[in-house]
Parts: sequence; structure tokens; C-alpha cells
Amino acid sequence: MRRIGVFDSGVGGLSVTKELINARVFEQIIYYGDTARVPYGVKDQNTIIRYALEAVEFFKNFEIDLLIVACNTVSAYALDEMRAQSNFKILGVVEPGVEAVVSTDISLDAQILVLATHATITSGAYQSALQHRGYSNIAAKTTGLFVPIVEEGLYSGAILDATIEHYLSACKQPDAIILGCTHFPLIKDQISRYFNNKSLIIHSGEAISMQLLEEFGEIDKNLKTEIKLFASQNPEALKQTAKDWLT
Ligand code: DGL
Repeated sequence: MRRIGVFDSGVGGLSVTKELINARVFEQIIYYGDTARVPYGVKDQNTIIRYALEAVEFFKNFEIDLLIVACNTVSAYALDEMRAQSNFKILGVVEPGVEAVVSTDISLDAQILVLATHATITSGAYQSALQHRGYSNIAAKTTGLFVPIVEEGLYSGAILDATIEHYLSACKQPDAIILGCTHFPLIKDQISRYFNNKSLIIHSGEAISMQLLEEFGEIDKNLKTEIKLFASQNPEALKQTAKDWLT
């Protein structure tokens, strides 16, 4: 059986899980959300690494073929440390997100806007990976308030509109927007609409699923992926969110 682990700071990684289910590459997904300690995006590097290493220990209880770090914040800070402590392959979402930009036909001087948590933006992970691939016009914006807004289920309405205005009004019209946080795909349409639907939207969860599909191949068109959900606090709430987001 092909079994994959998905780790996130909380419920947000379900947006990546949804893409993995659609890719039909794995028969079983073991999801672990550190719901007791979310958000990671406001924490410092040492704390993020410590929590990430605890997650590695959790996944050692399962025979997984690989672990997807769905959390952009953890992907930005802790992959090397996690890899050093694990006996399974670990993939983050930053590189696939950047590769998804590369796979489009946007030019190297296109305006690229990265939206992510404070920690992810401060790490410079997306910015340096994009620069490394030759992109020169990169704007990076911390938009952490989107996280609790999505967790509250406010996927549209006045609060979201005001927050989008607050964060994005000073941004130049982007050619591409990287949704560098697990929660942002749930408000993708609103972000896109703010820029008159003229920007290419890159979702790193979608990007990693495409990469895995290419690497492993689809198992079966009718595959029903089994999902086992674990949380460090209130697993019932995670299961409820999974029902809402995955259907
Ligand atoms: N999962 C986090 C990320 O993708 C967002 C939530 C948090 O701050 O923990 O960066």
C-alpha cells in the first residue's frame, strides 16, 4: 500500500490533502495537524524546528513512503533538520511552488507577489528560490490575518474584503501570485478578484500534487484515498473541518 504522511501546523494542510486526493497517487494519507500550537507563522525559528522534529517522531509510528510538509512555515525553516532525523523521504511545498512558476510562460521580469505568514516571508525562502531561478521583480507580503479569518470560516464578506484591502492596496498589479500558506487557497477567488482576475495564481499544494503525480503515477481513476486524521488537540474539530473542506 502506498502510504503518505501530511504534516501541518493545524487544519490548513487539508488544502494540500485535497489536492493529493484528487491526484489519486496514494492509497492512504496519515494527516497530523499540530492544532494545539497553531499558528506557527508567528513563532521563531528554534520553536518551529522543535515542533517539526516532534512531528517527525509522530510519523515514525507509521510506515509512510514519504512525508509532505504541507506547512509553508515549516517548509521554510525546518526541512534539513527533519530530514536529518527521519528514515523516510520528506518534501516541502516551497520548491514545488517555485517550480510551478517556472513551468508557466511568465517572463523573468514579471511581477511576482508572494503572500505568506510572517515567519515564511521573514525566512526569505520563496524570495531566494525565485531569485535563484532568475526572477527579478518579487514582492513579498506578510498576510497573517488571513489565517484566523479562514479558520473562522469567513471565506467571503466584509471582514475578508477589508483585510484584503488593508494588505494588498499598496501592491502593484502582479503577473503571478504565490499563495505561500496552506490557508490561502480557500480565499483564492477573493484574492484573484481583487486584482481583476488578471494574475496567475500559484497554489503550492496543487504544485506538489502535480509533482508527485508525475513521479509516482496515478494508481486508479476510481481510487478512494483513505484518510486518517490526527491532531495534537481536539481531533474532532479537525475531522469536522475535513468534512467541510474535503467535500
Ligand atoms: N500552515 C501555515 C503555513 O502554511 C499557516 C498557519 C500557521 O501560521 O501555522 O505557513
